[in-house]
Amino acid sequence: MEMKTKIIKINPQAIDFEAIAQAGEILKKGGLVAFPTETVYGLGGDATNPDASHKIYSAKGRPSDNPLIVHITNMEALEKMVAEVPPSAYALAERFWPGPLTMIFRKNEKIPYETTGGMDTVAVRMPSDPIARALIDASTGYVAAPSANTSGRPSPTEAEHVAQDLCGKIDMIIDGGSVPIGLESTIVDLTEDVPMILRPGYITLEMLGEVLDQVKVDPGLIAADSDRKPKAPGMKYRHYAPKADLKVVEGETDAVVQEINRLCTELSAQNKRVGIIATEETKDRYEQGIVISIGARDDEEAIARHLYGILRRFDELGVDAIFSESFATAGMGQAIMNRLLKAAGHQVLEVS
Ligand code: TXA
Ligand code: MG
Repeated sequence: MEMKTKIIKINPQAIDFEAIAQAGEILKKGGLVAFPTETVYGLGGDATNPDASHKIYSAKGRPSDNPLIVHITNMEALEKMVAEVPPSAYALAERFWPGPLTMIFRKNEKIPYETTGGMDTVAVRMPSDPIARALIDASTGYVAAPSANTSGRPSPTEAEHVAQDLCGKIDMIIDGGSVPIGLESTIVDLTEDVPMILRPGYITLEMLGEVLDQVKVDPGLIAADSDRKPKAPGMKYRHYAPKADLKVVEGETDAVVQEINRLCTELSAQNKRVGIIATEETKDRYEQGIVISIGARDDEEAIARHLYGILRRFDELGVDAIFSESFATAGMGQAIMNRLLKAAGHQVLEVS
């Protein structure tokens, strides 16, 4: 069912609270509003309203067993929606909220099963983005928001990406410009004996380790090809994927450049259009193909910020194949490679 999607621009530095109030009314009435957060754009609906959650799943084409993250702006809201807030959560909130961290708790009856994909646990995040916060406060205070993309496509890092996927399917898109981080939040599960990272993000294992006595990474995340399933239902789907066949080429830089050049020559001879995800250091060393630099090799913030936009750009350009260099940077490298490898369906070419 097509509807008219209203697109409004809001300056995060000078928020138009009248426009926000209008968006808040849409949410209170069970409608859907896409909005910026510091990580990626979210598709918001009232988390306490089962109908709104149904609408989110259908607008995204998302499998209904994949639970939504509930966004709040204060600790009282958290206490009202979960069975118990463990001390570790207060410690993590003190350090990382508001910000790009999602925590998983046992839920109470405030949040319906439609929002949690039938699970007894609920994912909660307190975003720092000023537009997101104003919108949550103008609604019921509980906003369910998955990334505002069609299921399976790269997450949106600007309003234009949201419009590409969801125009005609939701009530409103708030355009607040490009997001600062560009990768989804880190998810940590506090219902386990030892807190466990279900999805890597801007908040790294090391950073969590500074607050928690113990923290581990979901083994289902690391063993991509084993039978072990990731605990976050969303991490098992092929995700973030561009339309073209994407392969990651890994190894020493000179060898990687040489191999990508060779593959490009081969595919160009078959009249295939090839995209290359390069870095500032290597972008001038590719002889053919459409080369896009993701940033300087050691600038992981730039790499994270640009990744999804580049994957979407190659969709628009209609390339048949994409080759990407590998970006195993220290801090956020885990999160970057997690998303890149998922986008590539774990196709990796090792060169030496
Ligand atoms: O940065 C973010 O987290 C963005 C912005 C909009 O806040 N949101 C986001 O939502 O990435 P989404 O729906 O695209 O990803 C949510 C992930 C999925 O992998 C889902 O399976 C997992 O969180 N998840 C949600 N609730 C869960 C639960 N109770 N137990 C385990 N995993 C859960
Ligand atoms: Mg998503």
